[in-house]
Amino acid sequence: MTSHRSGRHFLQIPGPTNVPDRILRAIDRPTIDHRGPDFVRLAGEILERIRPIFKTAGPVVIYPASGTGAWEAALVNTLSPGDAVLMAETGHFASLWCAMAKRLGLEVQLLAGDWRHGVDPERVEAALAEDRTRRIKAVCIVHNETSTGVTSRVAEVRRAIDRAGHPALFMVDTISSLASIDYRHDEWGVDVTVAGSQKGLMLPPGLSFNALSEKALAAAKTARLPKSYWEWAPMLAANAKGVFPYTPATNLLYGLREAIAMLEEEGLEQVFARHGRHAEATRCAVRAWGLEVLCQDPREYSSSLTAVLMPEGQDADALRRLILERFDLSLGNGLGKLAGGVFRIGHLGAFNDLMLAGTLCGIEMGLRLFGCPVASGGVVEALACLTEGARQPVRRASAA
Ligand SMILES: Cc1ncc(COP(=O)(O)O)c(C=O)c1O
Repeated sequence: MTSHRSGRHFLQIPGPTNVPDRILRAIDRPTIDHRGPDFVRLAGEILERIRPIFKTAGPVVIYPASGTGAWEAALVNTLSPGDAVLMAETGHFASLWCAMAKRLGLEVQLLAGDWRHGVDPERVEAALAEDRTRRIKAVCIVHNETSTGVTSRVAEVRRAIDRAGHPALFMVDTISSLASIDYRHDEWGVDVTVAGSQKGLMLPPGLSFNALSEKALAAAKTARLPKSYWEWAPMLAANAKGVFPYTPATNLLYGLREAIAMLEEEGLEQVFARHGRHAEATRCAVRAWGLEVLCQDPREYSSSLTAVLMPEGQDADALRRLILERFDLSLGNGLGKLAGGVFRIGHLGAFNDLMLAGTLCGIEMGLRLFGCPVASGGVVEALACLTEGARQPVRRASAA
């Protein structure tokens, strides 16, 4: 046996995603003086052109950090010790954000969930209506739960907050939805949007983002949670001069400029349609295999990943191991309470029909070799779905 693997690895976890050659080439340049004129031009350009990706006219803060840092930044810049926050247990990542809020000294009011549905707007409305003393200072939700492949209806949650007439801030994690699934920071009245570089933006891990509303900036003036590295005010002051208050991730910013150019060239709406189409074809394959999609509400199907339930008694991790060893294809594992019970197919970022076809072929061959009692023909179904012009991707309710 040789350890050499011929051909290209298939990285089909739901992020980090495949980094396109164009972005790798853009990053592969000498690092420049981050206080010099060339950098000022680079930063100025990126800080402007990133806004339409969030569909905002407001400022976007860029941290040299993973997404977890941007979660923390959202909370510490806007809230004070003991403040209550309303969160929804949609899956593993929502639970981690919730645990972070508790560690920071916030009181979490949790809407429990079954990890197969998104945030229920009616329960948000009811919880806020009950909060007559206005103790809840923020509603924090995950747009696309990467552990479950469920996309919450952000616009409907916004309308629920408005119906309750509650002044809470609205914070949304778009780490696995930005630049993959329709998202509108301004139109949906989001105060802080949290995002990361390593998924729809097609970059390596290492950058994360906070898009800010006027209301979030006003809240930051009185927020008392301790902060230093994450503080928006010095970042925004430095950014106004085209620099950062500390050393930025210069080469990732070269990559970000290229990623924005690629998204502009394809057009955001086309990017969303492409993701929707690949997700639909993936679900066709899963159904033909006789397996179950974890997400139970078709309005909440994720366009960026599909979590698939293994038949009773079958180990998803053993299947993933076999597929990695035989076909050099990485699939996402089940996280938290879903460990061993599901595998996740990432179909986001720089991705096309043939990459999806290859991915589904690897899974179908893996299922056969694994001896999983499933029907073959998933790939055939997916190819039919991809080539049938009449078949449209599921319309996202949140875009209504
Ligand atoms: C929805 C979501 N939120 C938060 C995170 C945490 O981000 P990071 O691992 O970049 O810190 C992830 C990571 O995959 C995620 O998918």
